[in-house]
Amino acid sequence: MKTVENIKELRTQVKSWRMQGLTIAFVPTMGNLHQGHLSLVKAAHKYADKVIASIFVNPMQFGANEDIDSYPRTLEQDQEQLVSVNTDLLFLPTPATIYPKGTDDNAYVEVPNISALHCGASRPGHFRGVATVVCKLFNIVQPDVACFGTKDYQQLQVIKTMIEDLSMSVDIVPVETIREESGLAMSSRNGYLTAKEKTTAPVLYQTLQWLSEQLHKGQQTIDFTALITQASDRLAQAGLKTDYINICHAKTLETAVLDDKEMVILAAAYLGKARLIDNLPVSL
Ligand code: PAJ
Repeated sequence: MKTVENIKELRTQVKSWRMQGLTIAFVPTMGNLHQGHLSLVKAAHKYADKVIASIFVNPMQFGANEDIDSYPRTLEQDQEQLVSVNTDLLFLPTPATIYPKGTDDNAYVEVPNISALHCGASRPGHFRGVATVVCKLFNIVQPDVACFGTKDYQQLQVIKTMIEDLSMSVDIVPVETIREESGLAMSSRNGYLTAKEKTTAPVLYQTLQWLSEQLHKGQQTIDFTALITQASDRLAQAGLKTDYINICHAKTLETAVLDDKEMVILAAAYLGKARLIDNLPVSL
């Protein structure tokens, strides 16, 4: 696997592949890779001849109160893992390569409405940072397809909306969430959990499953607000502090109404030092 740090070198490689008529799939990440990330690379191989992954801990998507410096960085292991799933090229830019003027003076991409909900409400500016860096990485790599995890459901919808609104020509492939045996969604942030917290953390997914069962049982008569309160109580009893838990329209992510058939339950909760997010699509 070739590792390149600068844009010019990356473009030279991409151009050479293009001249050979090869297609390119792209998997952007922030590193500290686990099986979830690797499943994206495996999926990417099904859609294109060459797979490019990137590792870039994007300062624009971290809030002023969020410590980007403590984000886990495990480059050597990440490179080994990427080799194990036959990644063709790793793009490893520095912040100065991506934001030569710094993040405040850089042009940005703002996807309205959806970016302000849920995680966007708790983390103002987060999705602006995500949309901007993904747009920028797409412009640099110019892939045919890009793979994103449904684990970050809102992020995926923000990116799909950006592609649609700005007529971008990258096909987005959603990839299912990879979980621990306990049901806990794999995440770089699980590293912040103590051994004891790791046994509590699966309650988040269990609560989403419970909510989904209630929706299926109740069909059209359900009181969403009462259900959410009960779900939040379940989390609190287990020691998780709810940030949000919402039953939403699967595409707009606005609060679902009784007639909606395609929904998604979105949740974020704090456990010790970690902020865990998870979701469960519900089709009625
Ligand atoms: P990061 O958190 O490193 O995630 C990179 C990709 O891996 C995302 O598409 C995410 O949804 C996916 N992923 C994470 N955990 C997963 C799991 N358990 N199963 C399947 N896929 C999983 O998301 C980001 O980085 C950044 O916001 C980024 C898109 C790279 C922009 O900076």
